[in-house]
Amino acid sequence: MSLSKDDEKRLSAEAAMQYVKDGDVVGVGTGSTVAFFIDALAARRHDIAGAVSSSEQSTERLRAHGIHVMDLNAVGTVPVYVDGADECDPHNRLIKGGGAALTREKIIAEAAERFVCVIDAAKQVDVLGRFPLPIEVIPMARSLVGRAIVRLGGQPAWREGVVTDNGNWIIDVHNLRIADPVDLENRLNQIPGVVSVGLFARRPADVVIVAGKTR
Ligand code: A5P
Repeated sequence: MSLSKDDEKRLSAEAAMQYVKDGDVVGVGTGSTVAFFIDALAARRHDIAGAVSSSEQSTERLRAHGIHVMDLNAVGTVPVYVDGADECDPHNRLIKGGGAALTREKIIAEAAERFVCVIDAAKQVDVLGRFPLPIEVIPMARSLVGRAIVRLGGQPAWREGVVTDNGNWIIDVHNLRIADPVDLENRLNQIPGVVSVGLFARRPADVVIVAGKTR
């Protein structure tokens, strides 16, 4: 019998526990796959020092399990960061931000010694860009950023009604075939008003676990 998507997510999340060592401050991403990870982490809450969270949603779930949530400024770096993704290419470069938490996710990924990405098999692609690329923007820059995206060949769509944990808005960019993810990430980052880009190419995952198997 084949596994459901949720089974694959749970298996990946549980497999990520092998990268969590006693005494660690664990970086925790956001999303449905990470929800399984937080549930698994709860069983070891007395062994770890605590967690740094990438969203209000994850903070709430961590606290509900009695896991101590810490400020990244107080810990500096984290030995391990576990997070999901919307797409992953063969070089472990990712599209993230389907849950609008990309900015804090990117901050923790940058502060992590090891970034473990946990996904189901459908997230694997040869070339990034089938999933619309999320970009967090300062609200007043929405249309300016949108016009810059059109010049780069993308089709921007405002995720109306969504406000990020940082008080900003999300633009999803459709119809991009991302041949050079590092170059595109750099270009998008230079547009005034862009807070962060859901391309994780400059800092790809170190480990990718697909349906429970490290690839
Ligand atoms: C949250 O903003 C995203 O980056 C998530 O990591 C991504 O959308 C994956 O989510 P799921 O685990 O729910 O598929």
